Amino acid sequence: MSNRYRLTPHLKQTSGMAPPTAIITGAASGIGLALTKFLLERGWAVCMADLNEPKEKLNNTLFVKTDVSSWDQQAALFEQAYTWQGRLDFHAANAGIDDRDDIFHSLSSASTKPPKQPNMLCFAVNLHGPYYGIKLAAHYMTLPSTAAGKPKPGGKIVVTSSAAGIYPSPFAPQYAATKHALVGLVRSLAPIAAAVNIKVNAICPALVRTGLAPPGLLEQFTEDQFTPMSTMMRCFSALADFDDVGKEDWVEKGKSGETVEGNLDELTWHQPPGRPDEASYINEEGQNAWAKIYFERNKNFAAMDWVNGKM
Ligand SMILES: NC(=O)c1ccc[n+]([C@@H]2O[C@H](COP(=O)([O-])OP(=O)(O)OC[C@H]3O[C@@H](n4cnc5c(N)ncnc54)[C@H](O)[C@@H]3O)[C@@H](O)[C@H]2O)c1
Repeated sequence: MSNRYRLTPHLKQTSGMAPPTAIITGAASGIGLALTKFLLERGWAVCMADLNEPKEKLNNTLFVKTDVSSWDQQAALFEQAYTWQGRLDFHAANAGIDDRDDIFHSLSSASTKPPKQPNMLCFAVNLHGPYYGIKLAAHYMTLPSTAAGKPKPGGKIVVTSSAAGIYPSPFAPQYAATKHALVGLVRSLAPIAAAVNIKVNAICPALVRTGLAPPGLLEQFTEDQFTPMSTMMRCFSALADFDDVGKEDWVEKGKSGETVEGNLDELTWHQPPGRPDEASYINEEGQNAWAKIYFERNKNFAAMDWVNGKM
């Protein structure tokens, strides 16, 4: 067994039954660590993924050092977590970073040469990371894991977007773009995820006291401007109904495609804007046309790339 992670012996499968199991990325600190503890208190086993090892040793956890921007590392993470408990019920795609470029203020005034290629790590971590995680989670959640105690295949996914995924954020435009993208992603995935018994939603924290903020920022605010971690846990719970995980209809009855903002002690549910009435290209009949063409085309992507010499 790799020394990259530790096993908690008493949770190892002895009778073939395992506790409900979660993979949380960005679990070594802040919101991910709080969610890990919240689930542990409810009897879950948690696979903690992060670039950094957690400072505390927690029972019933498995730490897997992971860079979420790497497909290979996330694939290895999910495989190890599934091997650990034989089931996957919940995934929080939570790891995130802030901007790594200054789009308008790092231009050269003296050269006709183009500026240096910008650092796009924020997109790789905040957007590619959750996309990889959702794809992997759907795969492992839908494996037949009833022998491990799971009532039926399927599961729930929550991605951590941000208030900057709903409102503009000129001081962190890369971050805002990735977090807006996550809202669009869960809204677009929800209807097709239902077919494989997966629910996918987004939480949008306001300002929470964590390690994310650059030095000096948090000191600018007073305590009453911070959203407590308990509000974040209420957001996760409202989307994932953790206490009902053993029920047959746990997944079917859950919410999907939702975006909930947590600010102070308020939960605000955000809906997509309505379309103009005259947008007939996307009425019910139109939607069938989009679905018919795109679902067939997307299915064939791997084959098409191969034909076009792109693989
Ligand atoms: N704190 C806030 O005010 C706030 C507001 C809105 C959204 N969020 C979001 O909440 C999520 C959690 O952040 P947090 O506030 O708890 O901050 P945090 O910095 O305390 O925790 C983020 C964790 O992600 C890990 N991480 C960073 N890059 C990674 C990578 N490539 N692969 C794996 N792990 C990586 C870090 O090591 C850290 O442990 C982030 O997605 C963040 O954007 C936070």
